[in-house]
Order: sequence, then structure tokens, then C-alpha cells
Amino acid sequence: MKTARSLVAALASFAALGAVAVAALTIPARPVTAEAPKADLTQVKALYSEKCSACHNLPKPEEKGYTQAEWGRTVNQMLTKYHASDSISPPQAAQIVSYLGTFAPKADARRPGGKIGDPWATDSVDVWMDVPSVTRVFNFASASPLAALSPIGSGTPGPAPSWLVSMDKAGANGMAARVSAPSFRPDRFALLVDRADTGRNLDVRVRFRIESGKVSPAVGLAFGLTDPEHYTVLRCNQALGDLALIQIAGAVHTTVQQTSLILPLSAGTDPISPTPLAPGWHTLRLLVKDGQVRGWLDMQKRINVALPGYAGGKVALWTQGSTTAAFHDWIVDWYDAPKTAPLS
Ligand code: HEC
Repeated sequence: MKTARSLVAALASFAALGAVAVAALTIPARPVTAEAPKADLTQVKALYSEKCSACHNLPKPEEKGYTQAEWGRTVNQMLTKYHASDSISPPQAAQIVSYLGTFAPKADARRPGGKIGDPWATDSVDVWMDVPSVTRVFNFASASPLAALSPIGSGTPGPAPSWLVSMDKAGANGMAARVSAPSFRPDRFALLVDRADTGRNLDVRVRFRIESGKVSPAVGLAFGLTDPEHYTVLRCNQALGDLALIQIAGAVHTTVQQTSLILPLSAGTDPISPTPLAPGWHTLRLLVKDGQVRGWLDMQKRINVALPGYAGGKVALWTQGSTTAAFHDWIVDWYDAPKTAPLS
């Protein structure tokens, strides 16, 4: 199943499929407007009040006790069975589901042993139970914020990427690491590698904002990195608003799993077409546990797949081609005491 096909070619064909899906479902794929996280909440709350009170009283989400997945199924039913899709677009529905998911019962209430108050813990397998972890926090606010990190260019030869740390434009997010790579080719990647740590089982989160990029702007979390040309990346493509898990072995890129940004649909329903990622800050989460990889975009789990032959390695922030992006609050929990090994 290995192909040396470029990511761009794979994306182009996937985008074409998406276009067909749009036509078939006649659901317009509209991008959502930009927002900072705080404005987000007020906006989404207003969106929820407006859209979900059109046919019945506004449900009281705190009284329902639904998990995010259950809200996904409920909202999906509104869209398909009761034709709410006439007035609620897929991106709006996805936003509402994320919002309603925040009322999900906390893991500790439903599943003893879950991390208390962990809003990501929608599924018992997503929670680490009684396992000690070593946590690394890269919030780029220290005196030498890039000291433990190595900026590396990989893929097709090209100039080195430029990583700079500065106060984020929007102000509210504090210090952010910003990568720019104006002259990169699509199969050239920028990595910011955590130089010190190496391990197998980990839980990684990072906030990111894609600012620009000529071809397929995309960001990701690289892991299992044994050298700059061998790793796996959980990557989010801006144009598709999707997540993919891609193994990189030199010029050979193998897509292990790829999903569009869809609602958590119940089995047997048609996926909604890819939707461009809204401008602004988003969150990626990667969980690697005993060779099983799970990936989230903005609290929606998109990736869940076994990674045969996974042997661990280092972690890195990742961008594709000429992407300019900002990152902050990069947190790595290592669940099998990371070994300290220098980058080869
Ligand atoms: C186009 C009309 C319409 C819109 C818009 C709509 N609903 Fe509904 N909803 C219904 C109908 C019809 C029912 C089923 C009859 C009932 O229970 O009143 C229902 C029932 C429900 C129920 C109770 C059943 C259950 O599964 O718990 C919930 C909760 C709900 N809707 C949530 C929502 C949310 C959230 C939204 C906004 C995303 C929404 N609805 C928007 C028509 C709509």
C-alpha cells in the first residue's frame, strides 16, 4: 500500500471527492468566520440559542447528560431527519456539537479513574488510568524559549525554516512560536523537534493558527521521529479542515488514515464534505497508547487507528511547504518515562 505519491497529489484527489460529496448532498460548505477562543464561546452560545430554538424550546444541555458523541448523533438527527440542515450549515453544526460537548458529564463522574475534569475524556480508552507521566510544557514564555528544541528542515532539499518566538498578534494568547518558510516546495517540511525526550506512549496537545501558505497549508504533530526523514505525523490540512495520519519514510509517504472534518455520524450515514478550517486558533491532540493512535481536532476525535511497527521516538511540531503558522501551549505527557537521547 506504500506509494511515493506526493501529499499534494493525494490531497488534490481527496478534494475532488469532496466536491462530489458536496454536490450529492447539496449542503453548501461554507467557511466559518474567524475568532479568538473567548469570543468563540459567546459566539457559539449565541449560535446555539438562535439555531436550536427554532423548532422547540432550547434544550438545557446540562440536564441531558449526553457525551459529545451523543450530542453529535442528536444534532445529526436534527439535520437529517428534521431538515434543520436548511438553516444550520455543517460547520455551524460542528461548532454547536463542540459547545454542547462541554456539558458532557466529566470522566470522573461516569468512569472512576478518569482524569478529573478532563474535557477530552469522552471515551474510556482516551483516559490514562493511574499511570504516572512526565509532562513537558513548551509555552514559549521562558527566557530562551527554543533552547530545548531543534528547528530542522526535512523532505525535498530547500532553505532552513525560520522559527521565531514573539507575542501573538491577538495578544490574548501570550507568546507563540511562529514558523515561516516562504520558498518551500510542497514536500518540504519544517520541524521543531523536542531534542531531549524519546518515548513510545504519549499525549500531546498544541494550539495552532495557520496564517498563510501557497500550496496545501498544513500543520501537524510529528511523533515516533527517529531521524528528520522518518516519523509519523498527525496533520491538519487547512483547505480540507481534515486530519490525516501519515507515515514519512524519506520520499515515501503512506497515508494510514484520513478523515474530513465531519460530525460524529452514526454508522451508515453519509459523511459531510470537507470544510476549510476557520481562521484563528485551533487545537490538535495526539494520543499514542500501545501502538494505537488517536487524533483530535478541536475536541473532535477524527483519527483512531493502529500503527503497526511503531517503536516510538521523538516529537516535533510540523508544517508543510510554505505554511506560515503560529503555535503555543505545546504540552507533551510521556507515559513511559522518556529516555533522554540526543537527536542523531
Ligand atoms: C427544523 C426543526 C428543528 C431544529 C432547527 C432543531 N430541532 Fe431538535 N428536534 C426537532 C424535532 C422535530 C424533535 C423531535 C420532537 C420533539 O421531541 O419535540 C427534536 C428533538 C430534540 C431533542 C430531544 C430528543 C433527544 O434526542 O434528546 C433535542 C435534545 C434536540 N432536538 C436538540 C436540538 C439541537 C441541539 C438543535 C440545534 C442544533 C436542534 N434540536 C434544532 C426539530 C428541530
